[in-house]
Amino acid sequence: MENSKIQNFKNERDRLNKVLSEYASKTMKEFMGLDYRCYQAGALTEKTKELMGLVASLVLRCDDCINYHLMQCLEKNVSDEELVDTLTIGLIVGGSITIPHIRRAFDVWDEAKTTSFEADHKESFSKVIGMIKNVLTKTQNPRETLEAVCLLLKNNVPHYDWVGYYITDPNKPNELVLGPYAGEPTEHTRISFGQGICGQAADKKANFIIQDVSKETNYLSCSFRVKSEIVVPIIDGDKVIGELDIDSHKISPFTEEDEAFLEEIVELTKEHAKHVL
Ligand code: SME
Repeated sequence: MENSKIQNFKNERDRLNKVLSEYASKTMKEFMGLDYRCYQAGALTEKTKELMGLVASLVLRCDDCINYHLMQCLEKNVSDEELVDTLTIGLIVGGSITIPHIRRAFDVWDEAKTTSFEADHKESFSKVIGMIKNVLTKTQNPRETLEAVCLLLKNNVPHYDWVGYYITDPNKPNELVLGPYAGEPTEHTRISFGQGICGQAADKKANFIIQDVSKETNYLSCSFRVKSEIVVPIIDGDKVIGELDIDSHKISPFTEEDEAFLEEIVELTKEHAKHVL
Protein backbone atom coordinates (compact mmCIF):
# COMPACT_ATOMS: atom_id res chain seq x y z
CA MET A 1 0.00 0.00 0.00
CA GLU A 2 1.41 3.34 -1.04
CA ASN A 3 2.05 5.51 1.96
CA SER A 4 4.29 8.14 0.48
CA LYS A 5 2.30 11.35 1.00
CA ILE A 6 1.92 10.96 4.75
CA GLN A 7 5.28 9.39 5.44
CA ASN A 8 7.06 12.01 3.35
CA PHE A 9 5.19 14.76 5.11
CA LYS A 10 6.04 13.39 8.57
CA ASN A 11 9.71 12.78 7.68
CA GLU A 12 10.14 16.23 6.18
CA ARG A 13 8.40 17.87 9.13
CA ASP A 14 10.69 16.06 11.61
CA ARG A 15 13.76 17.04 9.59
CA LEU A 16 12.72 20.69 9.40
CA ASN A 17 11.89 20.76 13.10
CA LYS A 18 15.45 19.70 13.85
CA VAL A 19 16.80 22.49 11.64
CA LEU A 20 14.41 24.91 13.27
CA SER A 21 15.41 23.96 16.81
CA GLU A 22 19.07 24.63 15.98
CA TYR A 23 18.40 28.16 14.77
CA ALA A 24 15.30 29.19 16.74
CA SER A 25 15.51 32.09 19.17
CA LYS A 26 14.18 31.81 22.72
CA THR A 27 11.15 33.87 21.69
CA MET A 28 10.46 31.53 18.77
CA LYS A 29 10.66 28.52 21.07
CA GLU A 30 8.30 30.17 23.54
CA PHE A 31 5.86 30.78 20.70
CA MET A 32 5.99 27.07 19.70
CA GLY A 33 5.31 26.12 23.34
CA LEU A 34 2.32 28.43 23.34
CA ASP A 35 1.04 26.87 20.13
CA TYR A 36 1.33 23.39 21.70
CA ARG A 37 -0.48 24.44 24.90
CA CYS A 38 -3.25 26.13 22.93
CA TYR A 39 -4.34 22.80 21.48
CA GLN A 40 -4.46 20.99 24.84
CA ALA A 41 -7.93 20.25 26.25
CA GLY A 42 -9.54 23.16 28.10
CA ALA A 43 -13.11 24.40 27.89
CA LEU A 44 -13.02 22.81 24.41
CA THR A 45 -11.91 19.25 23.74
CA GLU A 46 -8.67 18.53 21.87
CA LYS A 47 -10.75 17.17 19.01
CA THR A 48 -12.75 20.40 18.65
CA LYS A 49 -9.55 22.43 18.79
CA GLU A 50 -7.97 20.36 16.04
CA LEU A 51 -11.05 20.86 13.85
CA MET A 52 -10.83 24.60 14.47
CA GLY A 53 -7.13 24.52 13.62
CA LEU A 54 -8.03 22.74 10.41
CA VAL A 55 -10.56 25.42 9.38
CA ALA A 56 -8.08 28.19 10.11
CA SER A 57 -5.38 26.36 8.11
CA LEU A 58 -7.73 25.87 5.17
CA VAL A 59 -8.84 29.49 5.12
CA LEU A 60 -5.17 30.58 5.25
CA ARG A 61 -4.40 27.97 2.56
CA CYS A 62 -1.41 26.37 4.29
CA ASP A 63 -1.13 22.73 3.09
CA ASP A 64 1.53 21.86 5.69
CA CYS A 65 -0.76 23.12 8.46
CA ILE A 66 -3.75 21.30 6.94
CA ASN A 67 -1.77 18.04 6.81
CA TYR A 68 -0.60 18.44 10.38
CA HIS A 69 -4.14 19.01 11.68
CA LEU A 70 -5.45 16.12 9.57
CA MET A 71 -2.95 13.80 11.32
CA GLN A 72 -4.11 15.10 14.69
CA CYS A 73 -7.77 14.71 13.69
CA LEU A 74 -7.10 11.10 12.80
CA GLU A 75 -5.64 10.45 16.24
CA LYS A 76 -8.70 12.06 17.84
CA ASN A 77 -10.99 9.68 15.88
CA VAL A 78 -12.62 12.38 13.76
CA SER A 79 -15.15 10.74 11.42
CA ASP A 80 -15.48 11.42 7.68
CA GLU A 81 -18.72 13.28 8.34
CA GLU A 82 -17.10 15.54 10.97
CA LEU A 83 -14.21 16.26 8.62
CA VAL A 84 -16.56 17.14 5.75
CA ASP A 85 -18.58 19.51 8.00
CA THR A 86 -15.38 21.18 9.15
CA LEU A 87 -13.93 21.65 5.67
CA THR A 88 -17.30 22.99 4.51
CA ILE A 89 -16.99 25.85 7.02
CA GLY A 90 -13.49 26.50 5.68
CA LEU A 91 -14.89 26.58 2.15
CA ILE A 92 -17.64 29.03 3.08
CA VAL A 93 -15.25 31.36 4.89
CA GLY A 94 -12.33 31.00 2.49
CA GLY A 95 -14.24 30.73 -0.79
CA SER A 96 -13.61 28.73 -3.94
CA ILE A 97 -9.87 29.44 -3.80
CA THR A 98 -9.67 26.85 -0.98
CA ILE A 99 -10.98 24.07 -3.27
CA PRO A 100 -7.53 22.82 -4.44
CA HIS A 101 -6.53 22.54 -0.78
CA ILE A 102 -9.74 20.66 0.03
CA ARG A 103 -9.00 18.24 -2.81
CA ARG A 104 -5.55 17.54 -1.42
CA ALA A 105 -6.91 17.33 2.13
CA PHE A 106 -9.37 14.56 1.16
CA ASP A 107 -6.64 12.73 -0.71
CA VAL A 108 -4.29 12.83 2.29
CA TRP A 109 -7.12 11.88 4.66
CA ASP A 110 -8.14 8.94 2.53
CA GLU A 111 -4.61 7.58 2.48
CA ALA A 112 -3.87 8.34 6.13
CA LYS A 113 -6.96 6.74 7.61
CA THR A 114 -6.39 3.53 5.65
CA THR A 115 -2.71 3.22 6.47
CA SER A 116 -3.10 4.08 10.14
CA PHE A 117 -5.76 1.40 10.43
CA GLU A 118 -3.61 -1.12 8.59
CA ALA A 119 -0.62 -0.39 10.78
CA ASP A 120 -2.37 -2.02 13.72
CA HIS A 121 -5.18 -3.87 12.00
CA LYS A 122 -5.61 -6.53 14.64
CA GLU A 123 -5.60 -4.07 17.50
CA SER A 124 -8.12 -1.86 15.69
CA PHE A 125 -10.50 -4.76 15.07
CA SER A 126 -10.31 -5.86 18.69
CA LYS A 127 -11.00 -2.28 19.80
CA VAL A 128 -14.14 -2.23 17.65
CA ILE A 129 -15.21 -5.62 19.06
CA GLY A 130 -14.84 -4.09 22.54
CA MET A 131 -17.04 -1.14 21.54
CA ILE A 132 -19.66 -3.49 20.10
CA LYS A 133 -19.72 -5.64 23.24
CA ASN A 134 -20.26 -2.46 25.19
CA VAL A 135 -23.23 -1.48 23.00
CA LEU A 136 -24.68 -4.99 23.39
CA THR A 137 -24.66 -4.71 27.18
CA LYS A 138 -26.31 -1.27 27.12
CA THR A 139 -29.10 -1.37 24.54
CA GLN A 140 -32.06 -3.72 24.70
CA ASN A 141 -34.13 -3.07 21.60
CA PRO A 142 -32.78 -5.35 18.80
CA ARG A 143 -33.24 -2.80 16.02
CA GLU A 144 -31.56 0.03 17.94
CA THR A 145 -28.74 -2.29 18.94
CA LEU A 146 -28.04 -3.41 15.39
CA GLU A 147 -28.28 0.19 14.16
CA ALA A 148 -25.64 1.15 16.71
CA VAL A 149 -23.46 -1.79 15.63
CA CYS A 150 -23.72 -0.75 11.96
CA LEU A 151 -22.79 2.82 12.82
CA LEU A 152 -19.84 1.71 14.92
CA LEU A 153 -18.54 -0.43 12.11
CA LYS A 154 -18.99 2.27 9.49
CA ASN A 155 -17.36 4.95 11.62
CA ASN A 156 -14.45 2.90 12.92
CA VAL A 157 -13.31 0.80 10.00
CA PRO A 158 -12.11 3.13 7.24
CA HIS A 159 -12.85 0.77 4.35
CA TYR A 160 -16.46 0.10 5.47
CA ASP A 161 -18.61 2.67 3.66
CA TRP A 162 -22.01 1.01 3.96
CA VAL A 163 -22.87 -1.49 6.67
CA GLY A 164 -26.20 -3.23 6.98
CA TYR A 165 -28.14 -6.27 8.05
CA TYR A 166 -30.47 -8.10 5.73
CA ILE A 167 -32.95 -10.35 7.53
CA THR A 168 -34.75 -13.38 6.07
CA ASP A 169 -38.45 -12.60 5.82
CA PRO A 170 -40.29 -15.07 8.12
CA ASN A 171 -43.28 -15.00 5.74
CA LYS A 172 -41.18 -15.49 2.59
CA PRO A 173 -38.25 -17.63 3.66
CA ASN A 174 -36.43 -17.17 0.34
CA GLU A 175 -36.37 -13.40 0.57
CA LEU A 176 -34.13 -11.00 2.43
CA VAL A 177 -35.50 -7.74 3.82
CA LEU A 178 -33.31 -4.75 4.54
CA GLY A 179 -32.82 -4.37 8.29
CA PRO A 180 -30.83 -1.81 10.28
CA TYR A 181 -28.03 -0.14 8.34
CA ALA A 182 -25.61 2.80 8.33
CA GLY A 183 -24.77 4.69 5.14
CA GLU A 184 -26.63 5.91 2.09
CA PRO A 185 -30.21 4.64 1.65
CA THR A 186 -30.42 1.75 -0.85
CA GLU A 187 -33.14 0.82 -3.32
CA HIS A 188 -32.44 -2.88 -2.60
CA THR A 189 -34.83 -3.28 0.30
CA ARG A 190 -35.86 -6.83 -0.74
CA ILE A 191 -33.54 -9.37 -2.31
CA SER A 192 -34.46 -12.92 -3.34
CA PHE A 193 -32.14 -15.78 -2.45
CA GLY A 194 -29.75 -16.25 -5.36
CA GLN A 195 -30.06 -12.65 -6.53
CA GLY A 196 -27.02 -10.37 -6.27
CA ILE A 197 -24.12 -10.96 -3.88
CA CYS A 198 -26.44 -10.91 -0.86
CA GLY A 199 -28.84 -13.42 -2.36
CA GLN A 200 -26.01 -15.74 -3.42
CA ALA A 201 -24.46 -15.68 0.07
CA ALA A 202 -27.87 -16.56 1.55
CA ASP A 203 -28.46 -19.28 -1.02
CA LYS A 204 -25.02 -20.89 -0.62
CA LYS A 205 -24.85 -20.29 3.18
CA ALA A 206 -21.32 -19.05 2.61
CA ASN A 207 -19.35 -15.85 3.01
CA PHE A 208 -18.99 -13.92 -0.23
CA ILE A 209 -15.97 -11.66 -0.63
CA ILE A 210 -16.02 -9.61 -3.81
CA GLN A 211 -12.87 -7.55 -4.15
CA ASP A 212 -13.98 -5.87 -7.38
CA VAL A 213 -17.72 -5.70 -8.08
CA SER A 214 -17.16 -4.59 -11.70
CA LYS A 215 -16.11 -8.17 -12.46
CA GLU A 216 -19.42 -9.63 -11.21
CA THR A 217 -22.42 -10.37 -13.40
CA ASN A 218 -24.82 -11.31 -10.59
CA TYR A 219 -24.46 -8.09 -8.62
CA LEU A 220 -26.98 -5.44 -7.52
CA SER A 221 -25.42 -2.00 -7.57
CA CYS A 222 -26.33 0.52 -4.87
CA SER A 223 -23.99 3.28 -5.97
CA PHE A 224 -21.27 3.78 -8.58
CA ARG A 225 -18.91 4.53 -5.67
CA VAL A 226 -19.11 0.98 -4.33
CA LYS A 227 -16.13 -1.02 -5.56
CA SER A 228 -16.19 -4.13 -3.35
CA GLU A 229 -18.45 -6.03 -1.00
CA ILE A 230 -18.33 -8.67 1.73
CA VAL A 231 -21.35 -10.61 2.95
CA VAL A 232 -21.39 -12.94 5.96
CA PRO A 233 -24.58 -14.99 6.46
CA ILE A 234 -26.10 -15.43 9.90
CA ILE A 235 -26.82 -19.14 10.24
CA ASP A 236 -29.02 -20.63 12.94
CA GLY A 237 -29.14 -24.41 12.86
CA ASP A 238 -29.46 -25.09 9.15
CA LYS A 239 -31.28 -21.83 8.32
CA VAL A 240 -29.96 -18.52 7.06
CA ILE A 241 -31.75 -16.02 9.27
CA GLY A 242 -30.04 -13.01 7.75
CA GLU A 243 -26.66 -11.59 6.90
CA LEU A 244 -24.24 -8.77 7.50
CA ASP A 245 -23.39 -6.86 4.34
CA ILE A 246 -20.52 -4.37 3.91
CA ASP A 247 -19.82 -2.19 0.87
CA SER A 248 -16.51 -0.46 0.35
CA HIS A 249 -15.45 2.36 -1.95
CA LYS A 250 -12.04 0.71 -2.32
CA ILE A 251 -10.98 -2.10 -4.61
CA SER A 252 -9.58 -5.20 -2.80
CA PRO A 253 -9.79 -3.89 0.77
CA PHE A 254 -10.92 -7.12 2.46
CA THR A 255 -8.58 -9.61 4.11
CA GLU A 256 -9.06 -12.81 6.10
CA GLU A 257 -8.99 -10.61 9.18
CA ASP A 258 -12.11 -8.78 7.97
CA GLU A 259 -13.81 -12.12 7.46
CA ALA A 260 -12.92 -13.42 10.93
CA PHE A 261 -13.86 -10.07 12.48
CA LEU A 262 -17.28 -10.00 10.77
CA GLU A 263 -17.94 -13.63 11.66
CA GLU A 264 -17.36 -12.72 15.29
CA ILE A 265 -19.78 -9.80 15.02
CA VAL A 266 -22.38 -12.01 13.37
CA GLU A 267 -22.09 -14.46 16.29
CA LEU A 268 -22.33 -11.64 18.83
CA THR A 269 -25.42 -10.13 17.20
CA LYS A 270 -27.24 -13.29 16.10
CA GLU A 271 -29.90 -13.13 18.83
CA HIS A 272 -30.67 -9.50 17.98
CA ALA A 273 -30.92 -10.35 14.28
CA LYS A 274 -33.49 -13.06 15.09
CA HIS A 275 -35.80 -10.53 16.72
CA VAL A 276 -35.35 -7.47 14.55
CA LEU A 277 -38.35 -7.92 12.25
N1 SME B 1 -24.78 -5.19 -3.67
C1 SME B 1 -25.72 -6.05 -3.05
C2 SME B 1 -27.05 -5.36 -2.83
C3 SME B 1 -27.22 -4.73 -1.51
S1 SME B 1 -26.32 -3.33 -1.31
O1 SME B 1 -24.88 -3.63 -1.35
C4 SME B 1 -26.68 -2.53 0.06
C5 SME B 1 -25.88 -7.31 -3.86
O2 SME B 1 -25.35 -7.43 -4.96
O3 SME B 1 -26.56 -8.20 -3.38
